[in-house]
Amino acid sequence: MEIKKVGVCGCGLMGSGIVEVSAKAGYDVVVREIEDQFLEKGFGRIDKSLSRAVRKGKATEEEKKTARSKIKGTLKLQDLSDCDLIVEAITENLEEKIKLYGELDKLVKKEALFASNTSSLSITEMAASTDRPDKFVGLHFFNPVPVMRLVEVVRAEVTSDETYEAAKKFAESVGKTVVSCKDTPGFVVNRILVPSLLDAVRVLESGVATKEDIDNAMKLGCGHPVGPLQLADFVGLDTTYHIAEIMFEEFKDPRYAAPPLLKRLVKAGHLGRKTGKGFYDYGKK
Ligand code: 3HC
Repeated sequence: MEIKKVGVCGCGLMGSGIVEVSAKAGYDVVVREIEDQFLEKGFGRIDKSLSRAVRKGKATEEEKKTARSKIKGTLKLQDLSDCDLIVEAITENLEEKIKLYGELDKLVKKEALFASNTSSLSITEMAASTDRPDKFVGLHFFNPVPVMRLVEVVRAEVTSDETYEAAKKFAESVGKTVVSCKDTPGFVVNRILVPSLLDAVRVLESGVATKEDIDNAMKLGCGHPVGPLQLADFVGLDTTYHIAEIMFEEFKDPRYAAPPLLKRLVKAGHLGRKTGKGFYDYGKK
């Protein structure tokens, strides 16, 4: 099936990035949010990123205008009914996602594919809650979506070959390199990344070195673009904690157990860049 029109649920950090790369690749995009203020915020992020792409020489002013004209925002799920692909990027809560898929399943055309951008929840469970499990797949993008080149295409037991191939083709068409993976918590990247971020917190917690030295060590010693504590702040300490909890629940492996310091920061509302404070202080939000 040919994908021409893409529906995106959620215009947060990930959703707005998915909207942007899809529109840049020439798709017509409808993005649905639950409140006007979230749409406005998401569109602000898209405009800023498109302007940044022009400044960095990654797009022309004309391409920016064309991409922007392809995007429509809505509060009504009904407006997604004629989309060929739905990419869901709402909050990481299985019940909420399943509820949304239940509604989408009734109103979106039967041939359309459903993809979740979840970073750690079960694709199989979401697929099984719909009447089109064979048309369900995971499309896990990375933050910031316009810059990071990877998409994990997650194939659940129930995903058909056609659905997998169409999802892979879509991800490639928006300029990404695909890795294929099975439906297990954390897929490939977070399965490796999250325990390494937790280890950095444990090193800090045990007083081996300061946060600056831990980050510098990994940047200068291993060539990472940002240090692990900076990266945890960037990803969001709540998100890091949440993914760790899901993986620990599944594998019962201490590598995935969140260190107390991470938990305390989350409980204190210090969630990283998005709240202005995490391991580092970013001043005003
Ligand atoms: N659109 C398109 N391209 C853009 C752009 C935009 N809006 N903004 C920047 N770029 C391009 C630049 O042109 C540049 O490309 P080049 O190297 O070919 O010249 C590149 O992106 C980097 O841009 P900058 O030099 O301006 O930016 P920085 O040097 O400040 O780097 C960063 C920014 C790439 C985000 C860097 O900080 C980084 O690598 N951070 C780590 C990000 C990361 O690891 N993300 C994954 C998190 S894990 C995740 O998402 C999974 C989830 O489930 C938790």
